[in-house]
Amino acid sequence: MIIIKTDEEIDLIRKSNLLLGQLHGELAKVLKPGIKTIDLDKLAYEFIMDHGGKPSFLNYRGYPNTLCISVNDVVVHGIPGDYVIKEGDIVSIDSGIELNGYHSDSAFTYAVGEIDQEVWTLLKVTKEALYKGIDQAKPGNRVGDIGFAIESHVKKFGFSVVRELTGHGVGKYLHEEPAVPNYGIRGYGKRLKKGMTLAIEPMVNMGTHKVVFDQKDGWTVRTADGKPSAHYELSIAIGEKHADILSTFDYIYSAIKDNPNLSAPE
Ligand code: MF3
Ligand code: CO
Repeated sequence: MIIIKTDEEIDLIRKSNLLLGQLHGELAKVLKPGIKTIDLDKLAYEFIMDHGGKPSFLNYRGYPNTLCISVNDVVVHGIPGDYVIKEGDIVSIDSGIELNGYHSDSAFTYAVGEIDQEVWTLLKVTKEALYKGIDQAKPGNRVGDIGFAIESHVKKFGFSVVRELTGHGVGKYLHEEPAVPNYGIRGYGKRLKKGMTLAIEPMVNMGTHKVVFDQKDGWTVRTADGKPSAHYELSIAIGEKHADILSTFDYIYSAIKDNPNLSAPE
């Protein structure tokens, strides 16, 4: 069942996403070569607790942390640990916060130091694909229109979208219906209506779309060919005519300006 939200509920989801945006900004201040991913996770946990929230991912289906930190060939669900970030990495940080009963969900991929030109293009195209998907998230359209827009853009550059993982509804629960695949057929799927709130999150691989699920930790998703993967995610509400973006990357971009180790496509 797709849960339609009132304007008041959408404002609560926006508030949760505003705090999440600020958290992403704090992380972007300290992300640099030499930092351990677990230290970013600790900072995130403290930040969320200090602001009256709860980390949405922590204990979700047994997930052990506040953040998913996915480096290079890790697509999503990288578990923070002893890995030390190094120059040339691409780092996706994904998190969610439950605030006043409503969840937020958003992710961003950074370039740490100098990265290959083609990897930069991967980041750029993935982020563009996110906004192309969001453009289709409007009343009257269908879920397939979002995925179609995302995959069409990605394919133009010879990249591929991951098929085993999708975007989703978000609100009272971190994951609600409908699933929002990053591929689709125009005019197919559930009809989009005002008051739906969705997390749209293209996961784009430079090479094969195929992924491998880590059997030991039960979470880490890697590209099957070891090539890099990028991930950007925003939570949105479907308004009268178009999508209302509830998450924000603004704090990330202002932090990047003052962090010489980081960059990301505009
Ligand atoms: N943004 C991801 C998602 O929407 C992260 C969820 S990871 C989990 O699926 F740890 F919460 F499971
Ligand atoms: Co999500």
